[in-house]
Amino acid sequence: MTASTTTTGRSQPVRLAGLGSYLPERVVTNDDLAQVLDTSDEWIRTRTGIRERHVLASDQATSDLALAAARQALDDAGTTVDQLTAIVVATTTPDHTVPGTAPLVAAALGTEVTAFDVNAACSGFLYGLRVGSSLLATGDDAVLVIGAETLSRIVNPADRSVAVLFGDGAGAAVLVPDERASLGPFDLGADGRDPSMLWAEAGGSRTPVDAEVLTGGSHFITMRGGDVYRNAVARMVASSQAVLDEAGVKVEDVDVFVGHQANLRILEAVGQRLGIPADNTHVTVDRHGNTSAASVPLALTDARDAGRLTPGDTVLLSAFGAGLTWGSCLLTWQPSGPARPAGTDGSGAAA
Ligand code: UT7
Repeated sequence: MTASTTTTGRSQPVRLAGLGSYLPERVVTNDDLAQVLDTSDEWIRTRTGIRERHVLASDQATSDLALAAARQALDDAGTTVDQLTAIVVATTTPDHTVPGTAPLVAAALGTEVTAFDVNAACSGFLYGLRVGSSLLATGDDAVLVIGAETLSRIVNPADRSVAVLFGDGAGAAVLVPDERASLGPFDLGADGRDPSMLWAEAGGSRTPVDAEVLTGGSHFITMRGGDVYRNAVARMVASSQAVLDEAGVKVEDVDVFVGHQANLRILEAVGQRLGIPADNTHVTVDRHGNTSAASVPLALTDARDAGRLTPGDTVLLSAFGAGLTWGSCLLTWQPSGPARPAGTDGSGAAA
């Protein structure tokens, strides 16, 4: 097997017509965690850049978070549920093992359109965008892509090596065909040779949950942090460079870099190796922690809300996660809202 396992898709005339996000109300700070774990605000901040994270309530599940983000994205797009033709939920923490989470979100929205999950862990939203744009290329009208996660449900709260890292949340985007915008090219890849680098070993068909699992805690997520860190930097750099090369875009023409928010040091290392100025990297990991598949859409929505995206901007998205999986793509930013005839939005930006 070669080290290069990526695939590259063409750029498509697709616009993110609406963005939405949802973060649970409860905020857990590093100091809160230091009350119950052998850790400190100083350790967490210097190793990860994380200051706080949101944690869902006991009566919430992933689909609830997804639904809230989805409603906001639909409002933002000016798209009605009737106009949607498909719903893709990227998650590695579904409500149930069976069925998928997307049908539950669809039902809550009041639609029976195509609805399915994508599990590519923290790269899930990038995979979801690729699937969504492919659906549009073959005739769909409007695809809702959601990244939603509740990692706090699969983290052992007593394991400081992971309990401090993750947060819960959801982000969503409505994808529509639009000649004045573009999404892609994509570079997606996976290397499943060593899944134990980052996994929840038990709870699936290989090792079903039994009393021994529950006692030993092998249904919780574990990670070899250093190995994951090195792979994350290398894969996000190579994958980002692949889409830049494929698109013929110079790194200095990237206006905003929205990377997977796992660790500030990873984002900085990726930015430095690619040559992206630190100011052009959008950071939310300090406030959100690592929200897995939700991190990229949460960060993209946050960047938009912070006024960082202007029409015609070239945005680089990149993510890395368990699997291993990774993915990157370019996005030509155009404002939210319903499709308008070319030349009537005043942006003057071409696809
Ligand atoms: O979302 C998918 C992608 N995920 C990632 O990209 C995460 C990648 N990995 C990382 O971000 C980093 O590896 C971590 C933040 C997880 C860990 O940072 P590190 O600098 O690699 O630390 P380490 O695992 O090498 O641990 C260093 C020390 C150890 O103690 P000793 O053996 O040196 O005495 C750990 O036991 O820090 C200790 N440690 C902690 N100390 C205080 C581990 N977790 C904690 C903690 N508080 N929460």
